[in-house]
Amino acid sequence: MANAETYLRQPCRTVHGIPMVNAFARGWERIDTFQSRPKDIVVVTFPKSGTTWVCEIVDMILQGGDPEKCKRDTITKRVPMLEFAAPGEMPAGTDVLATMPSPRVVKTHLPARILPKSFWENRCKMIYMGRNAKDVAVSFYHFDLMNKLQQHPGMWTEYLEKFMAGRVAYGSWYDHVKDYWERRKEHPILYLFYEDLKEDLRREVVKVAQFLGQQLPEAVLDAIIQHTSFEAMRDNPTTNYTMLPSHIMDHSVSPFMRKGTTGDWKNHFTVAQSERFDQDYAEKMSGTDLRFRTQI
Ligand code: A3P
Repeated sequence: MANAETYLRQPCRTVHGIPMVNAFARGWERIDTFQSRPKDIVVVTFPKSGTTWVCEIVDMILQGGDPEKCKRDTITKRVPMLEFAAPGEMPAGTDVLATMPSPRVVKTHLPARILPKSFWENRCKMIYMGRNAKDVAVSFYHFDLMNKLQQHPGMWTEYLEKFMAGRVAYGSWYDHVKDYWERRKEHPILYLFYEDLKEDLRREVVKVAQFLGQQLPEAVLDAIIQHTSFEAMRDNPTTNYTMLPSHIMDHSVSPFMRKGTTGDWKNHFTVAQSERFDQDYAEKMSGTDLRFRTQI
């Protein structure tokens, strides 16, 4: 069995042309051959787009808005991450998922092109959450500083170049957001935006519930809004990732629940970086009607 030393702080490995977290990339057949179930609900995002937020909202909806039921276990066990693997440390996501009753909620960051075929064949419902690229880059940078499953990100200036070039884990943010945006035309995908949740969480929770075929009573909706606020999730040990071993995630470097805002990029991008980013963004996003808000 692999020792954590062989994959912590190591560079990505390439899987089907996509840079992948070193520990996750080993034994990839488990992903390619993964068998979905028709009732699976897939929460899919590019990293740092508010995945944990959506996962908690979906679990709250499935648990009838009962926060105590959602505290039954950590979010990583209630909503396992499909591609997760940390040999010798924690069970692989595929193994945890195999033991779960339906309906399973499956978290993943996989680009559409390498998502197991079975999810498409079974027409599993997918909830995609996008977040503007500038805030994602800042959030990802801070995450890589504290998450030892990732290579150390180095200096921000260099990291930003890597992000723009798609040389970070899971590859190009631009391709990721565009591909699911297109596929929503042919597959049941609810496409959400982080900025919309920040703007009006109640409205967006209603959307998610409707997509899952549920109409929520006002009291349940109130409970969900309260339980999934940034402050509540930051202070909740089952959602703030403090239950993971500290040699994997070191919250003293940067907490997982860091700021939870839109527009933090303004505190990190120089004017020149922002201009260069915008120019490159316009090229990479030309030809799509997908629009993100970098401030609300
Ligand atoms: P920041 O680093 O900008 O604070 P993911 O779950 O995909 O890893 O995304 C993590 C990002 O979502 C972090 O962003 C985190 O603070 C933010 N986040 C998590 N829960 C949130 C909530 N309830 N409200 C707003 N932002 C949240």
